[in-house]
Amino acid sequence: MTVSDPVVEDIVATISRSATEIRQGLIGRRGTVDEENPSGETQAKADVWADELLGERLAGIDGVGQYASEERADVVDCGVDPADGDAYAVAVDPLDGSSNLKSNNTMGTIFGVYDAALPARGETLVAAGFVLYGPITTMVIATEETVAEYELSGGERNVVDDDVTLPDEPVVYGFGGRVPDWPADFREYAREIEDELKLRYGGALIGDVNQVLTYGGTFGYPGLESRPEGKLRLQFEGNPIGYVVERAGGRSSNGDRSLLAVEPDALHDRTPVHVGNDELIERLEAALA
Ligand code: AHG
Ligand code: MN
Ligand code: MN
Ligand code: MN
Repeated sequence: MTVSDPVVEDIVATISRSATEIRQGLIGRRGTVDEENPSGETQAKADVWADELLGERLAGIDGVGQYASEERADVVDCGVDPADGDAYAVAVDPLDGSSNLKSNNTMGTIFGVYDAALPARGETLVAAGFVLYGPITTMVIATEETVAEYELSGGERNVVDDDVTLPDEPVVYGFGGRVPDWPADFREYAREIEDELKLRYGGALIGDVNQVLTYGGTFGYPGLESRPEGKLRLQFEGNPIGYVVERAGGRSSNGDRSLLAVEPDALHDRTPVHVGNDELIERLEAALA
């Protein structure tokens, strides 16, 4: 099942075809390099390598005007300005959950296709999604039309669900950060949710959000006492995941409004991230009001 916009199809096909190579390329690249990324995180060899591989291929697509990544300080201009309306900007988290490399747990690749120059509001997204390096390599692609899940194998992308929708009844939750670092109002909300749902937290946004998409529930990485803006990046994690979950019938929030409505100041802005079933996000926003 291809995506109707030919440039978006070219972007997602490039990521899908690269996924098997990235998964294989994790082997031998689990150590760190002596560099930090713009968020001040020590980079894994695989972070840098996946970014170089995806950056080269995506920036080379006709119709892609900008490439930006969690691992690069600045936007890569590809010669066409998305602000002119005839090119897209692609924002990528090349390897999400790279701290799971050491423990060999789930990781992902996240992408957002913005119809605007970066940094941009999530409302300008035309497509977003992620690759999940689980026991099976799967890909979720959300567009204006639908949210579809694929199994990836040998460069092929086979659709396994052409209408991914959040189940009505929430089952799982996962909250990042340390409990003593949670503001009191979030902690009160979290305690209620902990009494109602089952804990699923794996340390990689993509793995945890895919549990919410599959079983219903909520994932949050809240603003912390020590860091009110939270940990996750708006352009590379919050917006793409918020778009996917909203297109799948759920909601996203920074605690106050949809993530897609948050106006970015800078490319690597962090934001509190909450996604999941309507009523859970509604209760969160009421708790933080
Ligand atoms: P990344 O590896 O791209 O930097 O992302 C890591 C993020 C996200 O994947 C996950 O939800 C969160 O960090 C986990 O943070 P903690 O290790 O603080 O739980
Ligand atoms: Mn990182
Ligand atoms: Mn990430
Ligand atoms: Mn990453």
